[in-house]
Amino acid sequence: MKKVITYGTFDMFHEGHYNILKRAKEYGDYLIVGVTGESYDVGRGKLSVRDSLAERINNVKNSGFADQIIVEEYLGQKISDIIKYDVDVFVIGDDWKGKFDHIAEYCELVYLPRTEGISSTQIRETTFRKHRIGIIADRVDDNQLVSEAKKVSGFSVEKVFSEDTAIADAFSKKYDICNVMDNLEELFDDVDIVFVRTELKDRYRFMKAAIKRDKHVIGEVPFSIDEDKQNELFELAKQHDVVLMHNLKVLHTQVFVQLLWMIKAGLIGDVIRIDCATSKHNRSIKQLFYELTASALAIVLNIMGTDYEKIAKRIIRDTEDIEYMSMTITYPNTEVIINIGNNIRVESKIEIVGSKGSIRLGENWWRADSFELLPVDEDNVKRYYMNYDGNGFKFLIKDLLVMIDEHRREYPLMNRDIDTVMTNILQDIE
Ligand code: CTP
Repeated sequence: MKKVITYGTFDMFHEGHYNILKRAKEYGDYLIVGVTGESYDVGRGKLSVRDSLAERINNVKNSGFADQIIVEEYLGQKISDIIKYDVDVFVIGDDWKGKFDHIAEYCELVYLPRTEGISSTQIRETTFRKHRIGIIADRVDDNQLVSEAKKVSGFSVEKVFSEDTAIADAFSKKYDICNVMDNLEELFDDVDIVFVRTELKDRYRFMKAAIKRDKHVIGEVPFSIDEDKQNELFELAKQHDVVLMHNLKVLHTQVFVQLLWMIKAGLIGDVIRIDCATSKHNRSIKQLFYELTASALAIVLNIMGTDYEKIAKRIIRDTEDIEYMSMTITYPNTEVIINIGNNIRVESKIEIVGSKGSIRLGENWWRADSFELLPVDEDNVKRYYMNYDGNGFKFLIKDLLVMIDEHRREYPLMNRDIDTVMTNILQDIE
């Protein structure tokens, strides 16, 4: 019996998929089809897949050509499948020409011509509404939005506005955004999402204007440190039926959701202490406080909840250049310490110490792609990771699109409760 294998995502199953399966089957007596698993697709940056794995498998099955369907879960699985299933022929579309030549060492390799004029990408683009985004900026830095947005289909960055026209021009040149708007109202025309990328003092004003024009908003955190203004924004968002998304990328990474699950499931026992530290150069402690403490708090408040007992902040300014802030949040049986330094070097990390073990996130924990689990009764360290490039903005964008399309208005890991407590904690730093 001659065995043939082929692989694909098979999203939005179309004629091209049907044809390749049909032709692949003709190369032998038994066809195995590998369908990509969801985490494998996310890991390799295919974030736009619409159909679930079960739907994609079902569509391959319904084509009637597959004798066996397997799930492709990791890079490099193909060689092990060829050996495991004793495969004779490997078939793939010629869009991959040259990429699989090494397979010829293990079995016969066939590249088949693609069916012209159709692809999953094309179907997704014509079927689903495109979301257009406008940016309001006060500095020439997009936080990687533009490059990350390119990895999510159905989303395009179209316009920029700044009160300083020189900044708007420089921004548009740097990130290749052709529409520089002269005023806010023009920015709002034809976009449905607005990213407010400004200093704290201007956020409330811009966010409010965007919401009033029925735009979904991504805002830097905190939106405002005035509780009344913060409440007003949420109230307005409710009235105008739009999403207010905090730019807290960590909450959208698989690594964070995974470690949260482990902690809630009791894998490290009771949490005794959380230690968080980071430092940067030439960024005032105030800026660092808002930028990094918000991410640290988002992690802490999801793990510990919002019922803390007391909070203490201490700022040390040793010389004109060095600033250091230490914040302690006390819960009934847990102490949380957040240390931030300007112009000194502290090891950047978050360590969550529990009665049965610890979890550690290292350098750049606010966009972590890995963490370590150190069980108390074992010598070995377990590492969990999810490779991705960029700063993780694409995961936030993807979640935002799902929320908009499915009419959800609150991201569960950043609910009003967490937001209110975070705003309170972020008040009063001088
Ligand atoms: N394929 C084909 N003809 C097409 C589209 C896909 O022969 N018009 C083949 C691919 O070459 C591959 C298999 O179908 O061998 C599965 O492809 P997949 O990547 O799932 O489909 P695409 O339509 O190429 O998806 P995307 O646009 O997301 O890349």
